[in-house]
Amino acid sequence: MISLDWNEVYKGTPPWDIGRPQPAFEILVEDGEIKPGRALDIGCGRGDNAIMLAMNGCDVTGIDLVEDAISDAKKKAAERHVKVNFLIGDVLKMNQLFREAEFEIIIDSGLFHAMTDEERPVFAQQLHRVLKPGSKYFMLCFSDKEPGDYGPRRISKAEIESTFTPLFDIIYIKDSAFHSRSGPSSSEVYSASAYLVSAVRS
Ligand SMILES: C[S@@+](CC[C@H](N)C(=O)[O-])C[C@H]1O[C@@H](n2cnc3c(N)ncnc32)[C@H](O)[C@@H]1O
Repeated sequence: MISLDWNEVYKGTPPWDIGRPQPAFEILVEDGEIKPGRALDIGCGRGDNAIMLAMNGCDVTGIDLVEDAISDAKKKAAERHVKVNFLIGDVLKMNQLFREAEFEIIIDSGLFHAMTDEERPVFAQQLHRVLKPGSKYFMLCFSDKEPGDYGPRRISKAEIESTFTPLFDIIYIKDSAFHSRSGPSSSEVYSASAYLVSAVRS
């Protein structure tokens, strides 16, 4: 797996920065699966998904490691007159940032698929700690149905199950799409095979 220098990629336009929310999360809002509540967008990047949730009644915090991404996200929210609490921080150290059970929704657009094998158990524990019991984690990742080896690591259903069970009850792992600017052969916005996961915090 190629490891990315997150600070470096935000000097330009990273492939996942499509300048709008991922359609998979918009559909979750439209279908009422994501309802107004205290939401956390982990690895929020330039903030389009977090802003979309805030525009739909959520009280949103967005967290990312990269200062430039957070400052761009803050500017974008201010331009759109939307209130989002964007902050710089490490998802693997959220115990230093948030209280237990502080959030009612977590969304993850492309962060889990960037975690190493060693980071995965810590990641699941950190999410479990900040989510209220019975609340949901929604995650979009590249799936093992996406051909080639460009871009992020492909994730199997078995890997999702072994990472999040038993801290979470997995409601579904659905075929979905991750829109990005990179693809096997084009620089246009490309729709990669993805899994959309809904999981309840046990
Ligand atoms: C694939 S990008 C997705 C960004 C955004 N969610 C989107 O859909 O546009 C993954 C993001 O996670 C951030 N990230 C990576 N590791 C992180 C960590 N340990 N804590 C917080 N953010 C992290 C990166 O800086 C990057 O913005």
